[in-house]
Amino acid sequence: MEQNNSLLPTGCVLRRATSKDVWSIRGLVFSAKLDPTQLRWQQFWVIECKKDLVACGQLRNFSSTQELGSLVVTPAWRGRGLGTLLAQHLISTATQPLYLECLGEQLAQFYSRLGFVRISFADLPRSLKPKFRLSQLAKQLIKVPVVFMHYLQRE
Ligand SMILES: CC(C)(COP(=O)(O)OP(=O)(O)OC[C@H]1O[C@@H](n2cnc3c(N)ncnc32)[C@H](O)[C@@H]1OP(=O)(O)O)[C@@H](O)C(=O)NCCC(=O)NCCS
Repeated sequence: MEQNNSLLPTGCVLRRATSKDVWSIRGLVFSAKLDPTQLRWQQFWVIECKKDLVACGQLRNFSSTQELGSLVVTPAWRGRGLGTLLAQHLISTATQPLYLECLGEQLAQFYSRLGFVRISFADLPRSLKPKFRLSQLAKQLIKVPVVFMHYLQRE
């Protein structure tokens, strides 16, 4: 259940979410204004530091693909590597080709460092297009800086 990760700050653990984490996960996702759909705790991993849930992220399942989503680190804990560790862990648990959508250049670079590459909407797998179509429309119509990405680097 818990990951023995020596890179985490002292007092922090990376573990699978449990049903007790539902409201903390929703709080993190809503406060970051991320996609509020498919927030099933069973799909989440979290980082807990001194009994507080400070980060979460999940893999959403689609037909033959997965989406890395809901990656949030609470503001007080940002910039200390937790987001990178959690994303790397989620990547290592993926069992299907992995995709994501993110907003803006800074996040696109964050994910590029983790092995994701930018792709066009046309290159998304068919199972993900219905979900990402609205973002694509917003990108085309009102220039929302959405970036679609595919994980390429497998160790
Ligand atoms: C993106 C996020 C998960 C990164 O977590 P983190 O623990 O701060 O990340 P790390 O410490 O491992 O890495 C830091 C990198 O994150 C990125 N980052 C940090 N804050 C960011 C922010 N507010 N927006 C976008 N990217 C950010 C930067 O690339 C930063 O690199 P730098 O320190 O060289 O500038 C965190 O900023 C967050 O929760 N943001 C709000 C929610 C969000 O946008 N999630 C992504 C959805 S696709």
